[in-house]
Amino acid sequence: MLAISTATKAATIEIQVDKPGAAINQAMWGIFFEDINFGADGGLYAELVKNRGFEFPDPMTGWSKLSPSKARGLMSIRDDNPFNAVNPHYLRLESEGADLFGVANEGFRGMGLHQGEAYDFSMQIRNVSGTPALRIELYSGDGALLDTVKLERFSADWKQYSAVLRPKATDAKARLYVLVDGQGTVDIDFVSLFPQHTWKNHPGGLRADMVQALADLHPGFMRFPGGCIVEGSYLARRYQWKKTVGPIAERPLLVNRWNYEFLHRPTPDYFQSFGLGFFEFFQLCEDIGAQPLPILNCGMACQFNSGELCPLDQLDPYIQDALDLIEFANGASSSDWGARRAALGHPQPFHLKTMGVGNEQWGPAYIERYARIAKAIKARYPGMQLVSAAGPEPADDRFKFAWSKLRALNADIIDEHCYAPPAWFFSNAHRYDDYDRSGPKVFMGEYAAQSDKVVSVFNRNNLECALAEAAYMTGLERNADVVRLASYAPLFANADAWQWTPDLIWVNSLGVYATPSYFVQQLFGKNRGDVVLPAKIAREESSPLSPAPQWFVSAVRDDSAGEVIVKFVNAGDAPVSVLLKLAGAGSVGSEARSEVLTGAAKSDCNSFEQPARVAPVAVEIPVSGVEFPHTFPAKSLTVLRLKASPAK
Ligand code: AHR
Repeated sequence: MLAISTATKAATIEIQVDKPGAAINQAMWGIFFEDINFGADGGLYAELVKNRGFEFPDPMTGWSKLSPSKARGLMSIRDDNPFNAVNPHYLRLESEGADLFGVANEGFRGMGLHQGEAYDFSMQIRNVSGTPALRIELYSGDGALLDTVKLERFSADWKQYSAVLRPKATDAKARLYVLVDGQGTVDIDFVSLFPQHTWKNHPGGLRADMVQALADLHPGFMRFPGGCIVEGSYLARRYQWKKTVGPIAERPLLVNRWNYEFLHRPTPDYFQSFGLGFFEFFQLCEDIGAQPLPILNCGMACQFNSGELCPLDQLDPYIQDALDLIEFANGASSSDWGARRAALGHPQPFHLKTMGVGNEQWGPAYIERYARIAKAIKARYPGMQLVSAAGPEPADDRFKFAWSKLRALNADIIDEHCYAPPAWFFSNAHRYDDYDRSGPKVFMGEYAAQSDKVVSVFNRNNLECALAEAAYMTGLERNADVVRLASYAPLFANADAWQWTPDLIWVNSLGVYATPSYFVQQLFGKNRGDVVLPAKIAREESSPLSPAPQWFVSAVRDDSAGEVIVKFVNAGDAPVSVLLKLAGAGSVGSEARSEVLTGAAKSDCNSFEQPARVAPVAVEIPVSGVEFPHTFPAKSLTVLRLKASPAK
């Protein structure tokens, strides 16, 4: 056996293999989805046309007029005899026929097209006069024609026409042209371009590469649709799930609250089409094996904005929305809302078990509303687990007030949020060790280490932040009897259109890269285990490491694999040699598999150019017995798995 001298050994890590503690919630590590940073439109929802229905306040947002010198024509936005009354605006194109005349759509800061792939184009068209044809063309950002198709012989009534286009080159900033060919007038609406290749090839579905990144996290749950977006800056702009299901063209457009939230990051072209609506959210959860965790408005607008309140005696519509959502998710096909789910192609229930009442609310107004809504939900569905809010900070007066009131109300699970510097996460790795075991459980519903400060544009997803989150997560795991759910936030950022950083996954129109924080989430998600094992670090008195080392450990047992899983964070700048002791183990395997996330500098980040600069590396470790030496690299998270069974 390789001996480790006491001169070099800095610590002993002891895992008590024969003393299993709390059972770990199988859904513990999840994801938080919010339509922020172009997360849905311009992100997960694979539609490539922005403002496809001409419903933005400036109906030509995203569109520009194409009028070569010889072309003569007029365009106008109209709403008489619309294609549908919910989204009534459409574009009329009148051409004198001297040359092609029409419009171009820029997509969501450029359309990402992949060479040779098939794209479904569709559009509502009504012929008004003459017999014009339409040319549908794709152009690259620098003006090269990528594909073209001609549509003709249009009906005098609204009708959908479609075609398939295959661009002959890949381009990140492509545009879609709709051109009138010949003399005459046509009305157009609901102009759509979708990759045929979506996640599971669902037509009109989600970007395959982005969903794959989610699936690769092995998420136990998915929280949706946010975030502040649940609340709206005032109540009329709150998220209303019923308006997001049913025929896609009939989902009313809503301005996205992140459109105007930050003066330093205005995003005037940010709206919610709800193409990714509640049915699609449930479907996505099912597809990636995550439990659905919807959060509903509780009669309060965002308290960072208007804080508008629905009067207590007028909460019935909010309560009804919650009850109907449960029926929509779980009800029999014979029930009203269950029938609507079945009509959308999903007769089986979605098995909704947990839902949130309010997002990041605080104060007495929240407690009153939560109490009423929770009472009504529990009266009808006593088994439904409810998430309640404790405000935006993890320890301030709002937080303490919420906890004391929610404890008195026997709340099930409280949503804690924390965006703070790495130092907070390191120093709070033991936050839950002393939490009251008898009260509500914890959902660490939004957290992320900030390399600069909250809402700073200078925040970076660097290695130090990832290690801070990993250190903190060892504490969540160790206290898995109290902390039942946890999710990093926000999830996605479009590199060309973000409002908030840091974010777990960065995308552009063609691809995706994962941050070091993503890999931390993934390592915990893949190595969840079934039961917590006691784990402690005993530092050698003689260890020269100074200042006090930043080491963090947790351990779990994976019952079906018969493996012990150790997670160790060494946030220090020096490697640490330890003796790993599997106390109470009868036998152990001859080697351990480990994955190590580390980098040269704490400031290291990933990027589109270097997506794996900080990424886990697999390392096999020889194991000589129930005690064996190991050296953890500087600035690293190591997840180590080895066969070990308790002594008989
Ligand atoms: O994650 C970004 C925002 O942070 C969320 O929308 C909100 O809940 C929190 O304030």
